Amino acid sequence: MPAIKTKGLSKTYRVGFWGRRVDVLRDLTLEVESGEIFGYLGPNGAGKSTTIKLLLGLVRPTLGNGEVLDSPIGAARARSRIGFLPENPSFYEYLTGREFLAFCARLLSVPRSQRLEQVQSLLGDVGLSRAADLQIRKYSKGMVQRLGLAQALLGDPKLLILDEPMSGLDPIGRKEVRDLILRQKAAERTVFFSTHILPDVEVICDRVGILVDGKLVKTGPIAELLGEEIECIEITVADAPEPILRQVEAFILGSSLRQQSRAMVRVKGEAELEKVLSILVHAGCRVLSVIPHRRGLEEIFLAAHSEGGR
Ligand SMILES: Nc1ncnc2c1ncn2[C@@H]1O[C@H](COP(=O)(O)OP(=O)(O)OP(=O)(O)O)[C@@H](O)[C@H]1O
Ligand SMILES: [Mg+2]
Repeated sequence: MPAIKTKGLSKTYRVGFWGRRVDVLRDLTLEVESGEIFGYLGPNGAGKSTTIKLLLGLVRPTLGNGEVLDSPIGAARARSRIGFLPENPSFYEYLTGREFLAFCARLLSVPRSQRLEQVQSLLGDVGLSRAADLQIRKYSKGMVQRLGLAQALLGDPKLLILDEPMSGLDPIGRKEVRDLILRQKAAERTVFFSTHILPDVEVICDRVGILVDGKLVKTGPIAELLGEEIECIEITVADAPEPILRQVEAFILGSSLRQQSRAMVRVKGEAELEKVLSILVHAGCRVLSVIPHRRGLEEIFLAAHSEGGR
């Protein structure tokens, strides 16, 4: 059963004095299965936040409709089972993390007897136990984001909708949030989150959708979307003697790069990779890394734009 299902969902705004029409979201038909982690990818202004607002019933669609957790979008019944993290959240800074969560729990009508316990356990889940009694103004960006996630998890929602949960975070903060999202699988929650950063979705998403200019141009498992897009494979090797490097040169792109005892070569595909590795390994060289280089998200966005865009 899908947790999110939309049909022809569209949003047009009228802007300026003459009421010029701007199609912010165009004919979005999408299904997100229960228990799935779905990454909603798109460049700035693609319409990601607009989609999220539509799913939450915060704005009305111009055309089309949708269901969230088996209720029409915007229905109160569905809304109470969705946890939501807005883009760039900011909370009342003079409350402590614990006070803020307790306040949200009250708004959500979590029974008084369960409130303290739920807040305490969520603080632990997002790694904020030690900072629980610190004012939010003393939190780092990553901590604020994790507090936002704890807020979204209050009331044990079935579906989490997160708008750019990793934005503005450093690599450690991003990893923490990624791990937290991944852990939702164990709780059988569905997660729908938006981002414009490819590595954020690569490891954790079951499927992704790519939105460009308000149009969903691709959906599928990330490996499928990126599958054919490997540009080259980079091999780094230590202590390779000169004759061996000359031997592999027949299979590589360009020439090898050398620095002290290391050499880096690039090959086009798996066939060449196999040949080069076998030469290196037979010669007893130490292969330090083999890294496939994919087309960047930017190129995928651009390609999608020209294929499916206006
Ligand atoms: N209320 C509004 N009135 C007019 N235009 C709007 C309104 N809200 C959004 N837009 C326009 O819709 C487009 C998509 O905005 P949206 O915030 O959904 O994009 P986004 O994909 O979330 O971008 P970002 O990555 O920057 O958060 C933008 O061009 C924006 O200017
Ligand atoms: Mg946005």
